[in-house]
Amino acid sequence: MKKLVRIAAIAAAALMAVSAAGCSSTRSLSDVKNSGKLMMSTNAEFEPFEYKDGGEIVGIDIDISKKIAESLGVELEISDIAFDSLIPALQSGKADIVAAGMTADAERRESVDFSDPYFNASQAIIVAADSDITGPADLADKTVGVQLGTTGDQYCTNEDGDSEYTVAEVRRYSKGMEAVSDLMAGRIDAVVIDNFPAQKFVENNEGAIKVLDTALTEEEYAIAVPKGNTEMLDAVNSVLAEMKESGELDEIVAKYESALS
Ligand code: ARG
Repeated sequence: MKKLVRIAAIAAAALMAVSAAGCSSTRSLSDVKNSGKLMMSTNAEFEPFEYKDGGEIVGIDIDISKKIAESLGVELEISDIAFDSLIPALQSGKADIVAAGMTADAERRESVDFSDPYFNASQAIIVAADSDITGPADLADKTVGVQLGTTGDQYCTNEDGDSEYTVAEVRRYSKGMEAVSDLMAGRIDAVVIDNFPAQKFVENNEGAIKVLDTALTEEEYAIAVPKGNTEMLDAVNSVLAEMKESGELDEIVAKYESALS
């Protein structure tokens, strides 16, 4: 009887270990292929890279991810989550890839692997159309809105003291649009966000806001995969290389650019 109890205990422990591993393990490329779907996580608050158009999530990163899924012969499954949950989603295996206009920076490289870059970006400053702020130096005594956990947040918060320009106060929003709304309502003085989405916000709110000419940073977007998954990384990189080579990537970007005007 005693022995039976011990066996049951061992079996239970083994089961727990398996299920614990199950929920924390990331999927290999063959797991993805066998399951028939590629799980991509993004934060669809970032036009034109990912945004909602009549309930559907669309954008440059979606088009790229569809190509990746297609090359693997699987369906693309998109999950739209908070920006600062994207890296944890990759680490826990809830996502196979993250395509979110994500800047490949040194800090994130400690937790995930990045593909080759596919877009050059910068952090731009949006102000009210009638603002007297003319450049980054004017932000020194101003309140600036950013999207939580983004490189714009890192730059303005300046925890490591590396930023060339400083701001008086940082307000963090879960969506860039909420920061822009507060800017238009006069509750904050500026918004720091990536240049292409910044242009989009200006287009969508014509006459009320403008983007300043000076950019704060130079950055590169890349697709993130779980750390150490070189098979997945190679698969992503070969699709990106093909899309660059054939001109398809430029065409996709141009499609969303022309939608701006
Ligand atoms: N490029 C910036 C970063 O990596 C902002 C990206 C925001 N992307 C989004 N889908 N909301 O931090």
